[in-house]
Amino acid sequence: MVQMKILGIETSCDETAASVVEDGKVMLSNVIASSMDLHAQYGGVIPEIAARSHIEVILPVIEEALATADCTWDDIDAIAVTRGAGLGGSLLIGVLTARTLAITHNKPLYGVNHVEGHVYANFLTATPLPDYTMRTAQPVFPTLAIIVSGGHSQLVLFRDHFDYTLLGRTQDDAIGEAFDKVAKIVGLPYPGGPNIAKAAERGDALAYALPKAKVGKYDFSFSGLKTAVLRLAQAQIGETYQFPSIKLPERLNEAQKADIAASFQHVAIETIVDKAKLAFDEFGPKSVVIAGGVAASQELRRQLLNVIPIPIEFPDLKLCTDNAAMVATLGYFHASKGQPVADPYRLAIEPNLSM
Ligand code: KG4
Ligand code: ZN
Repeated sequence: MVQMKILGIETSCDETAASVVEDGKVMLSNVIASSMDLHAQYGGVIPEIAARSHIEVILPVIEEALATADCTWDDIDAIAVTRGAGLGGSLLIGVLTARTLAITHNKPLYGVNHVEGHVYANFLTATPLPDYTMRTAQPVFPTLAIIVSGGHSQLVLFRDHFDYTLLGRTQDDAIGEAFDKVAKIVGLPYPGGPNIAKAAERGDALAYALPKAKVGKYDFSFSGLKTAVLRLAQAQIGETYQFPSIKLPERLNEAQKADIAASFQHVAIETIVDKAKLAFDEFGPKSVVIAGGVAASQELRRQLLNVIPIPIEFPDLKLCTDNAAMVATLGYFHASKGQPVADPYRLAIEPNLSM
């Protein structure tokens, strides 16, 4: 066992985050400053606003992560930073900051993949911090990872660290994106996921039959579902497909909104769970993990437990959405499994980085 404390830095979207994780499993700090409130009024993340917010808060966020972990720079063995995927301007702030700190404090630097990072939230098993419900054990390989976020929807089979196969992915919208778009149709604020979930509690998930796309065995498609919701909402108020979606919220009543939210959530989640079950049956993984913002969905957790015949441990809700603890954890495995160290004078961002 390599004893190491890693400082993780994450700025791929609207969260500025820093965290210190020990030995790839003990979360000593997890600091997140979000510019979400600044974006909510626009119904989505505005890249320029996100980048400016990162610049304003990144150093205090890192200072707080070190202080909460009771660490000085001498205690930090390496720095891990998200280099992609994400918004270019946002990634740049994190990567340039990490590069500068790696040079001035003479620390090894690792550039990590944000989407892979989400999976590593499942490797955190302990924390002295209050208010977290941690997994009791790390996943065992082979592991089936269900990655569902605002930018990604994919099924990945991990045989080991850094040895994985992408089984399938979305052909168009990510599932989180679909939640965000459907939220707009029924007049709920950004981010759509948690707001749809709340509205769905008052609705009937079987009120409306919505379609599941026919795509490759382990692939997904959510753009057709989003359009079906739009047509359904227009039909419910007796209008045609030409009726502007922006005026739908004022015409739909609360019961209709709740039923649309519940029916959409049910089908969108079932689409993911159907394919996860297929993959489970074909590959017989020892662990199944969920990762990414939509992994916070209680409906996803409920449906998975119904169909997957092995016990599943879920990450704390706060570790599903963007954070730096997952980045520090993945960084630990980069360092301990001999992944190449990045050149702090050259590490580049990769906004379109895929797994
Ligand atoms: O992973 P994440 O924080 O950012 C990306 O890397 O994309 O994911 C954000 C996404 C948003 O689309 C948000 O609507 C969705 O996660 N989300 C949820 C829930 N909480 C967040 N979707 C469904 N149910 C939730 N409870
Ligand atoms: Zn993310």
